[in-house]
Amino acid sequence: MKKQEFVVGLDIGTTKICAMIGRHHESGVVEIMGTGVTPSKGLRKGVVINLESTIDSVERAIEEAEGESGVEVTRVFTGIAGGHIRGVNSRGVVGISRTSREVNRRDVERVINAAKAVAIPLEQEVIHVIPQEFTVDDQDGVKNPIGMSANRLGAEVHIVTGAVTSAQNIIKSVNRAGFEVEDIVLGPLASAEAVLSPEEKRSGVVLIDIGGGTTDMVIFSRGSIRHSEVLALGGDHVTNDVSIGLRTSPKQAEEVKKAYGCATVSLIKGEEFFHYPGMEGRRGGKVSLSQLCEIIEPRIEELFTLVNADIDRTGLSRSVSAGAVLTGGASLLRGLPEMAERILRLPLRLGKTNGRIRGLGKGKDSPIYATAVGLVHYGLTYRQGKKMARFKGRNLFSQVALRMKEWLGEFF
Ligand SMILES: Nc1ncnc2c1ncn2[C@@H]1O[C@H](COP(=O)(O)OP(=O)(O)OP(=O)(O)O)[C@@H](O)[C@H]1O
Ligand SMILES: [Mg+2]
Repeated sequence: MKKQEFVVGLDIGTTKICAMIGRHHESGVVEIMGTGVTPSKGLRKGVVINLESTIDSVERAIEEAEGESGVEVTRVFTGIAGGHIRGVNSRGVVGISRTSREVNRRDVERVINAAKAVAIPLEQEVIHVIPQEFTVDDQDGVKNPIGMSANRLGAEVHIVTGAVTSAQNIIKSVNRAGFEVEDIVLGPLASAEAVLSPEEKRSGVVLIDIGGGTTDMVIFSRGSIRHSEVLALGGDHVTNDVSIGLRTSPKQAEEVKKAYGCATVSLIKGEEFFHYPGMEGRRGGKVSLSQLCEIIEPRIEELFTLVNADIDRTGLSRSVSAGAVLTGGASLLRGLPEMAERILRLPLRLGKTNGRIRGLGKGKDSPIYATAVGLVHYGLTYRQGKKMARFKGRNLFSQVALRMKEWLGEFF
């Protein structure tokens, strides 16, 4: 088979790495030819912290997908967590001390530099600065101050920052595993390809991808992405709470959470108890379903309170008439949709990968695989007519920064 006929989506998540190979099928849908999934051990909160184990998991996931599909993989489309791109507003002021007091191009540069001097979070680099408006003495709302007379010049800018280095580390892991990166895609944007309909994007919708280490959210309206944010909270925090609460190992806590966990205490009827094993041969215990849920509920409540505050801050809450769509593995937690609906006060549905697909293996239509399926859709849709992006070599940093800038043009 010719290489161009299929695309490979590679979702590098905090809990699992998933490679999916797909192609166009005659019937007009996408056919998935093979999938490989391995546990991910080298990431924390969506960021690579151990290159070697990430390389190893990438290799194994792709090998498995190659085996299932019978094709040889050379290039992949890979997702980057939404938190890598963030916008902050900032302002700066400079004095104009020359006798003419006439603002020139140098002054504009100076004031923009002053506005840029905000505290940028660790790992984030400024990739773009968009001047919004200027203030000339006390007069605000000035679009172009050059030539005006002033004692003071102020600027309001929107600074876009991106974790270029962590995106670089994702690409490095893929390269070192022996593959090229055909394109990097904003993760939640890939999930959106898989679970949202064009109507939802037009009417306005919030997509919330609750993974293991992070919750990524994006807001679409009028067909385009308007906002992207990542919260460093996910299903693994719930597991951690259960592990502490029951004094059991994270592995057992994970099993208990999936089997009995619920995020809304009021859904529990009656007093049902279950036994769970203790840590490394220690005696386990017995707990009621409602006791377990009392551990879980506050965490999920906290998560959606943060999501809600973020939606409010964007001022877009009135433009999301299609409501919210939940995806990611943690959205499978019982009682979670009920909690989300109560706090967000939006119509809600669970985002399974939509109907334009065939050949997904058993269980692979789960929201856990939405990003990988979305990357395949994205690759098949956007590969045509695009010049090949190749992320490798010495200029990796600037290549990644450039691609992030392009996202802004494409999506914001
Ligand atoms: N049936 C289930 N019930 C409750 N939680 C579940 C279930 N299945 C998976 N999860 C949780 O989903 C999380 C993993 O989700 P997912 O695979 O989407 O994460 P990821 O993509 O690896 O991580 P991230 O997107 O944060 O980098 C884990 O915390 C896991 O406990
Ligand atoms: Mg994920």
